[in-house]
Amino acid sequence: MQNFADRTAVITGAAGGIGQALARQAAARGMSLVLSDLDEDRLRQAASGLGLPSQRLLLHPADVSQEAEVAALARASFERFGAVHLLCNNAGVGFSRLLTEHQAADWGWVLGVNLLSVVHGIRHFVPRMQAQEEPGHVVNTASAAGLISSPGMAAYNVSKHGVVTLSETLYAELAEQGSDLGVSVLCPAWVPTGIADSAGHRPARFGREAGASPRSAAYAARMADAVRSGRLLPDDIARVTFEAIEHKTFYIVPHRKILQAVQQRCQDMVEGRNPTLLPAPGAAHRGS
Ligand SMILES: NC(=O)c1ccc[n+]([C@@H]2O[C@H](COP(=O)([O-])OP(=O)(O)OC[C@H]3O[C@@H](n4cnc5c(N)ncnc54)[C@H](O)[C@@H]3O)[C@@H](O)[C@H]2O)c1
Repeated sequence: MQNFADRTAVITGAAGGIGQALARQAAARGMSLVLSDLDEDRLRQAASGLGLPSQRLLLHPADVSQEAEVAALARASFERFGAVHLLCNNAGVGFSRLLTEHQAADWGWVLGVNLLSVVHGIRHFVPRMQAQEEPGHVVNTASAAGLISSPGMAAYNVSKHGVVTLSETLYAELAEQGSDLGVSVLCPAWVPTGIADSAGHRPARFGREAGASPRSAAYAARMADAVRSGRLLPDDIARVTFEAIEHKTFYIVPHRKILQAVQQRCQDMVEGRNPTLLPAPGAAHRGS
């Protein structure tokens, strides 16, 4: 998709971080926006800096881990703007501790928000985007954690590997159907956003996080430090993402150094070696 003006973007997780930066890019390109996140007040705050007239903006709070709420988001988006041209399945949460200390509820929360939300987004938006026979593009936010397996973040890794393979599958199925709809999967490494404070967005139905062992606490502290020291900013990630949409680039890997670890993983497989150990979160992969 090359012309954005007067087209409509739906962005989840739009109240902060990368989602808010995607909204800034979309607004600057003349798009109408449907912004979604858990909390209406934070959405209103995020939208206030965009300078969009009310006829180009819809704020729709939704918990994207719940299929009914994503279905309602899709209904509201198509009712208000008639068509959706860009879908950014971006909402996500971070979670860091030893795999043996992940509780079932932790898995439910992280997989629900990071992976099932993308499943719901595809199911409720993509058939209608295909039917409108206008240019369109889907961006699913995965992570470098969807390409490699760093210790201390098992549920997050699994959720993001899931988003990568889901996106590859969608790409292949659309290609087989001769569809023009573009697909990209966004795989950044560390970016300074609110993701290390995700526990504050944990819906009550998943209960509170259990206490962590010192080793788990150390993983979480290193992840928070890595996020804080990420050198590419949310606006950098959003700019690269829009360039990728323009060029129909599938894999968006803004931190290019991470590809060395991806290549190492593939070589380990091809050459029959056991996995090369990666540094724990925070020890590498911050820069570009
Ligand atoms: N920051 C990083 O280092 C980094 C790296 C790779 C990938 N990502 C991914 O980027 C995406 C955006 O994260 P971010 O870094 O901007 O973090 P962020 O915490 O700043 O933004 C995430 C947004 O998602 C929202 N959210 C959380 N749970 C939700 C739910 N159930 N329903 C709807 N919205 C919900 C939060 O309220 C928040 O506004 C996520 O998918 C994340 O996994 C982030």
